[in-house]
Amino acid sequence: MDKLSLLKAKQDQALAGGGAKRIESQHKKGKLTARERLQLLLDEGSFQETGMLVTHRSRDFGMEKEVYPGDGVITGYGTVNGRLVYVFSQDFTVFGGSLSETHAEKICKIMDLAMQNGAPLIGLNDSGGARIQEGVVSLGGYADIFHRNVKASGVIPQLSAIMGPCAGGAVYSPAITDFILMVEHTSYMFVTGPNVVKTVTHETVTSEELGGAQTHASKSGVTHFACANEVECIENLKQLLSYMPQNCEDEAPIYNYEAADESRKTLDSIVPENPNQPYDMKEVIEELVDAGSFMEVHKNYAENIVVGFARLAGRSIGIVANQPASLAGVLDINSSKKGARFTRFCDSFNIPLLVLVDVPGFLPGTDQEWNGIIINGAKLLYALSEATVPKVTVITRKAYGGAYDVMNSKHIGADMNFAWPSAEIAVMGAKGAAEIIFKKEISEAADPEAKLKEKETEYLEKFANPYGAAARGFVDEVILPSETRTKLIRTYKMLENKVDTMPKKKHGNIPL
Ligand code: HXC
Repeated sequence: MDKLSLLKAKQDQALAGGGAKRIESQHKKGKLTARERLQLLLDEGSFQETGMLVTHRSRDFGMEKEVYPGDGVITGYGTVNGRLVYVFSQDFTVFGGSLSETHAEKICKIMDLAMQNGAPLIGLNDSGGARIQEGVVSLGGYADIFHRNVKASGVIPQLSAIMGPCAGGAVYSPAITDFILMVEHTSYMFVTGPNVVKTVTHETVTSEELGGAQTHASKSGVTHFACANEVECIENLKQLLSYMPQNCEDEAPIYNYEAADESRKTLDSIVPENPNQPYDMKEVIEELVDAGSFMEVHKNYAENIVVGFARLAGRSIGIVANQPASLAGVLDINSSKKGARFTRFCDSFNIPLLVLVDVPGFLPGTDQEWNGIIINGAKLLYALSEATVPKVTVITRKAYGGAYDVMNSKHIGADMNFAWPSAEIAVMGAKGAAEIIFKKEISEAADPEAKLKEKETEYLEKFANPYGAAARGFVDEVILPSETRTKLIRTYKMLENKVDTMPKKKHGNIPL
């Protein structure tokens, strides 16, 4: 064979992955191959592969006879909508996408390049974990990746799509990255699968129940997105990227925006008269941001808080909003963790924050206390307080108690705080407040119920409005809901060049 033909033969062998039979089996499961996924993700013709001819070094268990160029992972770089990204895509048709020493080295090389050149890293994961035939070198390979994930955290965006079974070490690298996307019915994440679970805890559970997309999207919160299929998953990856800068020293891309009539009349009647009646904060968000630009993150997890990306006048913002339509928008353990993690991502990557407030307080009870609402609630407080990006707050209705402080109050560094006329800024709800501070007067009254009502009204009149806070400057302006979008566009423009830093330190100690 001449030299050029030899190269072609080697390349063809790499392109064939684990062979036609295994590719067919992959397709039968409703899964694409590693290369097909990259084709969907990257701009046409932009992919440049690295390490195509790398092979494993294993000589045990007959492995020397089973050698596949590329060794179960396709690595390289390309562009998504013209922007540089580094990618790896695990090939399940080669040893189940399992991670060998050389497989890990290929991923590490790409991670180093991504860091040095300041561009996002995207991992398409489909792996049975550590290559069982290799032992400790495979474990070492995982740790090399984890260490790089940690170093890259906050420097470049790291996105993980889970597109097959990911077991053992295969779940911990995604866990350190910024966003995880899973595909329903074909992807799983667990430290140990159903068989081990059965042996150890005697529980009988399916892979889907234990670590399927819906489980991690709603119960554990491990995944940020549960996608109907692989195509949707890759579309979501691309959309996510569109809100992000290339690295922590860059700004997110700015989209075209033509100034128009920015008033939003429907918002004037969105908050019900009855303070206990719910409304959907997502409707408020949709009205405030550029049409169709809102991408919700963690949609089915801790639904009492809404987080996600959007654009305002063409620029990326991150939104953290209480959701009165779920548990009255109360802050609990999971919603605090969800809000905190999202806030920290935005702050790491220069994405301004918008906080929408309608919160009756922290959720009381033994379940919350015993599971650490104190420490977990403090995460959101810490994250918002620590963030130095432009931070803007709109109080739409309730801002009660500690939750008033936590939800991006002026006191913890918000740049501009607005309140709607429907805002109620108080230590607690009027009824509870009246019952405590007028306890004696009420119990001694001829008609205690009437007295309670009278005191409740008194408290309501005094505190169930934004004017006490506005009088002290805790609220910069009380605005009409319909003019909120205009105000926000103007405010973020004004804050465009904000410079703020935390005191010099190694790193803070967020209450984990
Ligand atoms: C080597 C593996 C492998 C592995 C799968 N294969 N996992 N080879 N090392 N870890 C191979 C199989 O031998 C098979 O080869 C092919 O991949 C497809 O596997 P199947 O079992 O036929 O596929 P499927 O039925 O879809 O099941 C997929 C699976 C299962 C759920 C991933 O293979 C599985 O449970 N694998 C082992 C998972 C595991 O325990 N990994 C180690 C975790 S410990 P052929 O030749 O037939 O195609 C770990 C430690 C790191 O990761 C800790 C760091 C913190």
